[in-house]
Amino acid sequence: MSRFFIFLIAAAFALQSCQNQPKQPADFIDDNVKFAAEQYGLQTALIEASGKVLNPKSFIDGKIKYIRPQEWTSGFFPGSMWYLYELSGDEKWRELGIKYTEALDTVKYLTSHHDVGFMIGCSYGNALRLSGNEAYKAVMVQAAQSLSTRFRPDAGVIQSWNVTGGWQSQRGWECPVIIDNMMNLELLFEATRFSGDSSFYQMAVTHADNTIKNHFRPDYTTWHVIDYSLADGSVRNKHTAQGFAHESTWARGQAWAVYGFTVCYRETGDPKYLEQAEKAFEVVASHPNLPSDGVPYWDFNAPNIPAEKRDASSAAILASALYELSTYNKSDYYKGWADKIMQSLASPDYRAALGENGNFILKHSVGSIPHNSEIDVPLNYADYYFLEALKRKRELER
Ligand code: GLY
Repeated sequence: MSRFFIFLIAAAFALQSCQNQPKQPADFIDDNVKFAAEQYGLQTALIEASGKVLNPKSFIDGKIKYIRPQEWTSGFFPGSMWYLYELSGDEKWRELGIKYTEALDTVKYLTSHHDVGFMIGCSYGNALRLSGNEAYKAVMVQAAQSLSTRFRPDAGVIQSWNVTGGWQSQRGWECPVIIDNMMNLELLFEATRFSGDSSFYQMAVTHADNTIKNHFRPDYTTWHVIDYSLADGSVRNKHTAQGFAHESTWARGQAWAVYGFTVCYRETGDPKYLEQAEKAFEVVASHPNLPSDGVPYWDFNAPNIPAEKRDASSAAILASALYELSTYNKSDYYKGWADKIMQSLASPDYRAALGENGNFILKHSVGSIPHNSEIDVPLNYADYYFLEALKRKRELER
C-alpha cells in the first residue's frame, strides 16, 4: 500500500473520530462564563445589599440557604469567586474573592470534622494561586495541622466524622472514614510544600493507600463509609451514609474517588493512583445505569431508575477530574467524556435561567436522599466544580 493511501485512510479515521465528538459551539466557554458572571453577579449583589458577609449553599423551598463558616461547603462560594476572576479577568471577582475567603479565617483551627481540606483548599488555595498573597500559605499549613489531628495511626487514615453527636452517633461506628475524604488530601500535599514538613505528605499517601485497600470492591465501585476500629485499626463495617444501600454505589462518592486519586497522582507521580482514578472512572463510563447525557442518578443502584433524581454535582466533579486526567493519559477519551458532560450541564436541562434557581448556575443536584435533605436543588459545590471544569477546558483548548 502506498504511503499516500495509508495517509488517506488515517485522515478519514481522524475525521470520523472528530465527528463522533460532541459538538460544542466555538463560544461554549465564553457563553458559560458570561452567564455564570451574570448569575453570580445577582447572587453577590443580594449579599452585598444585605451589608453582611453571607455564604450561599443552596435554594430550597424558594429561599436561598446560607451557611456558617464551619460547614463543609463553606469554601465553595469563595472558590467560585476566584474561578470567576480567573475566567473573566474582572477585578470585581478578585475583591469579592478576598472578602469571602478571609471570612473563613477561623476555619483553619477546625478539628471537629475532616472537611477542612475542602473548605480551605477551595477558598485560600485558589486565593493564594491567584492573588499571590503569601500570607495565605500559613493559613493552609495551620489548616493541615488541624486536619492532621484526625489522623489515626493504627488504622492509617484520617477520621472523617466524630461519633459523639448527631446522626453519626447512632450508627455504631468508632472511626468512620468516607470516600469523600480523598478530597482533603490535596491540602496535606500543599502543606508539605509550604512548610517542608513531610509528615503531612506521609499522612496523605497512607490514607490514600488504605483507601485503595479498603474502600474499593473488586469491580472498583466504592463503599461510602469504612468504619475502623480505634483499638487495632481493623475494618469494623463497610456501610453507606448518603447512598441507597451499603452495597450500592453512591454517585458522588464514585466521583470523589476519581477526582481524589487524580490529585494523588499529580502530587506523587505514583502510577498506582492514576490506575485507581482510571478504574474508578471506568465504573461510571461502563455502567448500564449511566444515562446517555452522562449525568448520573444519585446512586448507580437506586431502585427506581429511570424514575430517580439525577445528581448534577457528581457530573460536575467528574467533568473537572476528567479534564485533569486527560492531561496524564488517553487524552481524547477523557476530554471527550468531560466535554460531553459539560455539554449536558450547560444545556437548559441543567443550567438555570438568569435570575432563577436562587441565582445558582446548575439545577438538579442531590445532597442526601437517605437524610431527606437537599433533594433536586442547586448546590454550591456543583457550581464550583462546573466553573473549575470550564477553566480546565479553556486551558486545554488554548
Ligand atoms: N462530602 C459530602 C458530600 O459529598 O455530600
